[in-house]
Parts: sequence; structure tokens; C-alpha cells
Amino acid sequence: MRDIELFNDHFQNFKSYGIPKAQLIIADIPYNIGRNAYGSNPAWYVDGDNSNGESELAGKTFFDTDNDFRISEFLHFCTKMLRPEPKEAGKAPCMIVFCEFEQQFELIQKAKEYGLNNYINLVFRKNFSAQVLKANMRIVGNCEYGVLLYRDKLPKFNNNGSMVFNCLDYKRDTKTRKIHPTQKPVGLLEYLIGIFTDKSEVVIDPCAGSGTTLLAAANCERKAYGFEIKKDFYKEAQRLILPNVSKRIFNE
Ligand SMILES: C[S@@+](CC[C@H](N)C(=O)[O-])C[C@H]1O[C@@H](n2cnc3c(N)ncnc32)[C@H](O)[C@@H]1O
Repeated sequence: MRDIELFNDHFQNFKSYGIPKAQLIIADIPYNIGRNAYGSNPAWYVDGDNSNGESELAGKTFFDTDNDFRISEFLHFCTKMLRPEPKEAGKAPCMIVFCEFEQQFELIQKAKEYGLNNYINLVFRKNFSAQVLKANMRIVGNCEYGVLLYRDKLPKFNNNGSMVFNCLDYKRDTKTRKIHPTQKPVGLLEYLIGIFTDKSEVVIDPCAGSGTTLLAAANCERKAYGFEIKKDFYKEAQRLILPNVSKRIFNE
């Protein structure tokens, strides 16, 4: 098996691939926000300008797979694919889930049923907003939300003894090709991977989209495995995001 691999499949089929267990699972789960996904995003209109009329994204969901996403199946996958709890302190695995604001509560509650008893809520503060078009003097969102979940022992934490605030900067990624509507910035993913894993450890992204988690992990010399159901995202990820990293081999 290669050190970096994206599979065009449902993460529910993970057993067929025999991938190693992860020190860190990073997942940006479908937001289930239905047909208003582009609600106040300029993409609702042609060229982002409402005088041009509505674009083909108006009234659309981000993904037609949103309705089929089950948090319990996702948590089942995560508990199977996270490394078991180690005996020593300071080495435990964890997961980071990017999610819609209200999904945090369901995640935190259901995670306990899967032995992920602890959480830290995360806020990602963007230096831009996707909601500007319909702002009309209202407060516009510039944050994304997430939860860090872990079982019992505190996760591995590489930050030279310094603490990290739970409100993290989410800077626009201007270097990576944009191929996915909810693509996460590679710089932010590299930062998270650096904190919660060591070199050669495994990162898994079950909802990989554009493959940015795999790219970030490769840049940090971690192994990484991802699943993406949609063939178009998978192909674009292979063509534009991961063409070189899949060939890299890291030494233990
Ligand atoms: C919010 S997006 C992730 C975007 C990604 N973080 C990025 O930076 O490009 C969620 C992705 O999960 C995929 N997905 C949904 N259900 C899935 C499943 N059961 N198995 C694998 N992928 C799935 C969707 O097609 C979508 O591309």
C-alpha cells in the first residue's frame, strides 16, 4: 500500500482496503443544510453579481449525497479506524470534525455512544466571509465550527509546551487549486496535523472531497488515506491536488 492514497468509494467500505489505523482522523462532514447551501454566498448568482441573475447553484445543495450521510455510521468508522488507546500518557489519538454549527451537538452526544467521551469545541475564524452578498447590514458569518473528539486520555499534543486557543485562524488558501465548494485550506490542515501527530503517523479523512487533507499530510510527511464517493471530485483531486504526492514514500 502507498503512503498516500485516495479511494473513490464510501468510507463504509473501508474494510476492503486494509488501511492502517489513524493517529488522527480529520473529517469535514456533509453539512446537511439542504437546498439553501449557497444562501448568502455570491455563487448563488452568475459571476457573483445579483444583477446577472441566478446561477445554476441557486437553490441547490452542496452535494446530492448530503441526505444519505449518517453520523452514527461515520462514528462507527472512526472508532474502528482510530488507533486504540495507548497505555502511556501523551500519545492518544483523536479526531477533528469540521461541521455545521448545529451538528456539533449531535456529534458530541452520539460520540459518547462510541467511547469518544470527551470533546473540545473549535471555532475557525476566517479573514473573509462567504455570506457577504445578502449582508444588508446584518452580522455575517466568518466562522466555521468543529469538534475535537477523544476517548479518555488527552491526545498527543506537539506544541512545545504552549497552549493553543480553541479559536483558530482560517486563512484563505490562495496556493491550492479550488475544486470543491467546501475545500479546507491546506495551511490550516498542516497546522492541525503537526499538533496532533508525529512524522510517519497515519491521518485518515473519510470525507476527503478535494483531497486537501491528504496533501497537507504528505507535506508534513505523514501517511494519509481518504475516501470520496463522488467520482468527479475524486478525479479532480487526483489530477489537480494529488498528482505528485501519491508517489512519495516516507521512511519509518
Ligand atoms: C464537506 S465535503 C469535504 C471537503 C473537503 N474537506 C475538502 O477540503 O475538499 C464532504 C465530502 O464527503 C463526501 N462524502 C459524503 N458521504 C460520503 C461517504 N459515505 N463516503 C465518502 N465520501 C463521502 C461528499 O461527496 C463530499 O465531497
